[in-house]
Amino acid sequence: MPIAVDNLQDFAASGLDNSVLQDRGLAAESQSPVNSFSTPRFEVIGGGDVTQARLAQCATFFSEHYGVWDQNVAAPLRPKGRVKMTPAKLRKECFSNPDDTLLIMAFKDDQLVGQAFVTKWKYRNEIVVWVTQLVVHSQYRRRHIATGMLGSIRSTEWFRPVTIIGIASTHPAACNTLANLARFRMAQVDLSFIRQNAAAILECATPRYLRGAKLHGELFEEACTDGAVSLADTNFPVDHAEPHQVLETYVSANKWPLGSLRDGHEFVLVISLPEEECRL
Ligand SMILES: CC(C)(COP(=O)(O)OP(=O)(O)OC[C@H]1O[C@@H](n2cnc3c(N)ncnc32)[C@H](O)[C@@H]1OP(=O)(O)O)[C@@H](O)C(=O)NCCC(=O)NCCS
Repeated sequence: MPIAVDNLQDFAASGLDNSVLQDRGLAAESQSPVNSFSTPRFEVIGGGDVTQARLAQCATFFSEHYGVWDQNVAAPLRPKGRVKMTPAKLRKECFSNPDDTLLIMAFKDDQLVGQAFVTKWKYRNEIVVWVTQLVVHSQYRRRHIATGMLGSIRSTEWFRPVTIIGIASTHPAACNTLANLARFRMAQVDLSFIRQNAAAILECATPRYLRGAKLHGELFEEACTDGAVSLADTNFPVDHAEPHQVLETYVSANKWPLGSLRDGHEFVLVISLPEEECRL
C-alpha cells in the first residue's frame, strides 16, 4: 500500500526546515515557467507493492523528462535522442532487490511531477541507502521536489537503520539533494569518507551497474590530473550539456567539492549520516 505523506511534514523531513525552504523559494517565486504551485503530495511505495501499471507510468515519465543521449552515441542509440526507459528495464535496474527498494512519487494534484527509486544494502556494520533514480518534471524543477521526495523517507521505519547515503549522478543538483537529505551543504561534504569507503560500498552494491563501476579522480588515483575528484565510470553516455551548465554555477559559487565531469562517468557522493541525525 502506498504511504501518503503529509506535504509540510515531508518538506520538514526533507533535511531543510520550512523557513530555509521558504528562503530558498519553495513556497514563493520559482524559476520555472509554472506560475502557481502548491506543495506536492508524496507517495512512498515498497518495492514489492509496485504494480506493473505504476512501473509503466514511471518508465513513461522517465522517458519524457530524464534527458538526452550524448551526440557521439552509436546505434541503436540516437544522438541527442531522449533516453528511453521500459518497464522491464526499470524493474531490472531499480528492483534488483524489491524488499529493500522504495519508489517515491511526487504529485501535483493528480499529475506526476517527480519520481525517485532508492535501495539499501549492508556494508560492514552499516546500512547504505542509494538513490538509483531521481527525475523531476522539466517544468517543475528547482522547487525542492527532488529534495522533498528523498526527505519523505527520512522519518520512515525503512530508513531507521540507515547510516550512509549515496548517489551516482551526472547532475550536481542531484548530488545536492543527497547533501540536503544529510542536512549538509555540498561544500561541507567529507571527501576523506568518500576516499576511504566509496569503493568498498560499491563492491557490496545490489544494483549490478554500480558493482562493476570503476572509480576515477583525485580521491582514488594519485596520478589523476584531469580535474576529476570523485567519479564512477558507469558507461552511461548521457548528454552532459545541462549538468555542465549547472556545474559551472556550483564551481563559480565555490560550493563544488567533486571536481570535473568526464564522458561516460557520473559523480559519486557518499555521506555518513551524523549519529544524532540518523534516526530523526
Ligand atoms: C536533478 C533533478 C532531479 C533535481 O530536481 P529538483 O527538484 O529541481 O531539485 P531541488 O529543487 O530539490 O534542488 C536541490 C538543490 O539543487 C539546486 N539546483 C537544482 N537545480 C539547479 C540548477 N539548474 N542550477 C543550480 N542549482 C540547482 C537547488 O537550488 C537546491 O539547492 P539548495 O537546497 O541549496 O537550495 C532534476 O534537475 C532532474 O530531474 N534532472 C534531470 C534528470 C537527472 O539528471 N537526474 C539525476 C540523475 S540521478
